Amino acid sequence: TDPAIIRNFCIIAHIDHGKSTLADRMLQKTGVVAARDMKAQYLDRMDIERERGITIKSQAVRMPWEVEGTAYALNMIDTPGHVDFTYEVSRSLAACEGAVLLVDAAQGIEAQTLANLYLAMENDLTIIPVLNKIDLPAAQPEKYALELANLIGGDPADVLRVSGKTGEGVEALLDKIVRDLPAPVGNADAPARAMIFDSVYDTYRGVVTYVRVVDGKLSPRERIQMMSTKASHELLEIGVSSPEPTPTQGLGVGEVGYLITGVKDVRQSKVGDTVTNLAKPAAESLGGYQDPKPMVFSGLYPIDGSDYPALRDALDKLQLNDAALVYEPETSVALGFGFRVGFLGLLHLEIVRERLEREFNLDLISTAPNVVYEVKTEDKKMITVTNPSEFPGGKILEVHEPMVAATILAPNEFVGAIMELCQSRRGHMRGMDYLSEDRVELRYWLPLAEIVFDFFDVLKSKTRGYASLDWKADGEQVSDLVKVDILLQGEQVDAFSAITHKDKAYSYGVMMTQKLRELIPRQQFEVPIQAAIGSRIIARESIRAIRKDVLAKCYGGDISRKRKLLEKQKEGKKRMKMVGRVEVPQEAFIAALSSD
Ligand code: GTP
Repeated sequence: TDPAIIRNFCIIAHIDHGKSTLADRMLQKTGVVAARDMKAQYLDRMDIERERGITIKSQAVRMPWEVEGTAYALNMIDTPGHVDFTYEVSRSLAACEGAVLLVDAAQGIEAQTLANLYLAMENDLTIIPVLNKIDLPAAQPEKYALELANLIGGDPADVLRVSGKTGEGVEALLDKIVRDLPAPVGNADAPARAMIFDSVYDTYRGVVTYVRVVDGKLSPRERIQMMSTKASHELLEIGVSSPEPTPTQGLGVGEVGYLITGVKDVRQSKVGDTVTNLAKPAAESLGGYQDPKPMVFSGLYPIDGSDYPALRDALDKLQLNDAALVYEPETSVALGFGFRVGFLGLLHLEIVRERLEREFNLDLISTAPNVVYEVKTEDKKMITVTNPSEFPGGKILEVHEPMVAATILAPNEFVGAIMELCQSRRGHMRGMDYLSEDRVELRYWLPLAEIVFDFFDVLKSKTRGYASLDWKADGEQVSDLVKVDILLQGEQVDAFSAITHKDKAYSYGVMMTQKLRELIPRQQFEVPIQAAIGSRIIARESIRAIRKDVLAKCYGGDISRKRKLLEKQKEGKKRMKMVGRVEVPQEAFIAALSSD
């Protein structure tokens, strides 16, 4: 295909501003999906995506569109919308020349609108500002066109107005994409360089890799090479999605499509990597490749210990499809055999856990998630801690915790509440700007550990749902962090150890000891429950002794009944965990770990 008739674009938007709906409408208007085949959100293929209404994996679709007698090929690249997947967003953007910046005409600019816009600007994309949902009675297109024009420059009158729902304005938008976006440029005679912006595992076809060709050409049956690993593969199939996969005679400069090599593991076809010809390799890769870096770790345990091998198999399978998922075996006194699993963020954790439970039929318990700390010990060694149990005892010189740069957008009446919240989460304010007379952007530097768990929920409730949040990793700081252990009769219960800020250690200790006192049944002796930092006890509860005699209820000599009761008690014991001399039903641990 002649690059002059190609336009590569993506749609960027805050969550729920209607990106998927607009994409669906474009597929319909360009005729690639007939109305009768139209399922809501055609591009979101995974069930979980459809049910949660979120886009996890990006996809690319080729659509024909004619302007003034010339047939153009538009490649629409779908991008994930959640902060956990920012790296994937940035790779998708790098595959485009332009971006449709979509803003809900009843909501205005939100935090992810800004975050995505900045990413698009970093990639030098041409921006087409568009207001969506103009069919809504609450839409205020005049007001928000001005807000958008103020943000990116230009005339409010040039901001397109569309409705993904009714289809109004969508044709005009397709025309504008052809007119305003530059055609791709590249060197057709150079060795091939194609950037991988997505890679998905398909049960039947193995890994399907989505690429954007920058220079040269990739052809079927030739051998290609992954530039980061030097691994080479035969190109079994190459083609475009429109939207069903359609094989072609290759992909040239500016083209977007998929390739299949028969590899079974997405980690052999990594997002951000450059593909070249093995026979005539490019000297330099396209750059910008990054290994996915897990930010949050949690222990995953099968509730039924005999499911451990099944959990391992399930994780192996999921990893084929998810290059960001990392795990290693771990054992816990309280929970038995399980895995320490690393995730990009909490949404990623939830998705993985839900898939394990749903697709693999596993019942799981996860330990409280934690971020990754770097600990400097007395002998000046740096230790990476992904699990509180790895936190070194003895003297510690410094603990480094990961930080994020957060952007919060909200109506100005909530500024006080937001500042208070950020302060209580050990945040440092970096700046504040008015986007319009009643909307404020606040910028904070915050510890990841303070933001990643419940921050967004609290922020929403303090601002009656009006605030939006976006953040990205931004360095680290040295903090006063300690490990709090929970002891049952002097024995440490590993699953409950936590790394917290010194000021929050006491409240964590009190909360956990009280919870466990309520959940653990009485034993034949008194059981102290303590919270400790090193050897210093910071909280204490105790479970009073009871003499548990199941036979007491059986008067007389009904021996069969006695035997039955003893059997039953044995049955019960199997689900008991021993912590030192203390018998704890596994349910108590599970209940203590589940957040209320
Ligand atoms: P993610 O893919 O998760 O980022 O969400 P999204 O931005 O794609 O939003 P989606 O297309 O799922 O739409 C969000 C909600 O807005 C859905 O309930 C849509 O039905 C609704 N919606 C989308 N476009 C329009 C529109 O033009 N008008 C109206 N009234 N509703 C719309």
